[in-house]
Amino acid sequence: MRAPKYQAMGIPEETVLDLLSQESERYPEHRALVKVVRRKLHNIMAPYLEELDYAQASDWLKGLSVDSDLSAVKDVCSRILSSHASSRERMPFLETFYAQIFAVIGKPTSILDLACGFHPFSFPWMGLPPQCQFSAYDIHRPRIQLINQFFAVMGLAPLAELRDVLVSPPEQQADAAFLFKEAHRMEKRNPGCNRALWVALKVRYLLVSLPSTDLGGTHDLAEKHRSLVYTTISGLPWKVTEIVFPNEIVFVLDKGGMG
Ligand SMILES: C[S@@+](CC[C@H](N)C(=O)[O-])C[C@H]1O[C@@H](n2cnc3c(N)ncnc32)[C@H](O)[C@@H]1O
Repeated sequence: MRAPKYQAMGIPEETVLDLLSQESERYPEHRALVKVVRRKLHNIMAPYLEELDYAQASDWLKGLSVDSDLSAVKDVCSRILSSHASSRERMPFLETFYAQIFAVIGKPTSILDLACGFHPFSFPWMGLPPQCQFSAYDIHRPRIQLINQFFAVMGLAPLAELRDVLVSPPEQQADAAFLFKEAHRMEKRNPGCNRALWVALKVRYLLVSLPSTDLGGTHDLAEKHRSLVYTTISGLPWKVTEIVFPNEIVFVLDKGGMG
């Protein structure tokens, strides 16, 4: 696990320990265990989805300030969002994405963005004030550092944190949590793990989004992913509203209280 590639990503120790303990029963032999944990880490970090030069992106952000025009901020954010497959696919409908979501849940004043990737760089499209408590969590250290640099530009508090949300779900209350385009991969890491996370979150609304087609756009995944959501919440009295976008379905789960 000491490979330079993973060290550069700054993966939290809790993630590696969790994988080791989860797989050690099935793979008691050390080399086989390391191999399977490396493979799982590769799938979790999904390095193949991203092409960003972090030093260059940090320089782009240094060129902005809290007084910058929204169009200049959006220009830099678009470049960063376009460098990752998950957020790139959302670009064509970003202008209406949050209006449609907030029409269902209202404008949140506090948000937990779980397994955030570059999604916080969409903040300028949300129409929310800088007083919004926007907490973001990921297991990739350079990404978290870049997000906090960006939050300073937006006048937001530096609430991006390196944290494995499956091992340590955030404990603070919020109006809404976003878990975008990652729940299906979390199921691969540990089948059934989503339910404990979703139940633990102290939010009124949990928004889970899943891709409705594969990356190549050829396979329809809508029914498979719908089934993941409804199986995960089976027996829970949560109300579900589906918002369908061209390649992504947002499942708005109304937990009816703070969980
Ligand atoms: C598909 S990408 C980003 C998706 C992003 N939410 C979006 O829709 O644009 C998934 C991200 O989740 C992060 N991640 C995966 N498992 C995680 C975990 N257990 N806790 C926190 N972050 C995680 C990865 O490092 C990666 O940045």
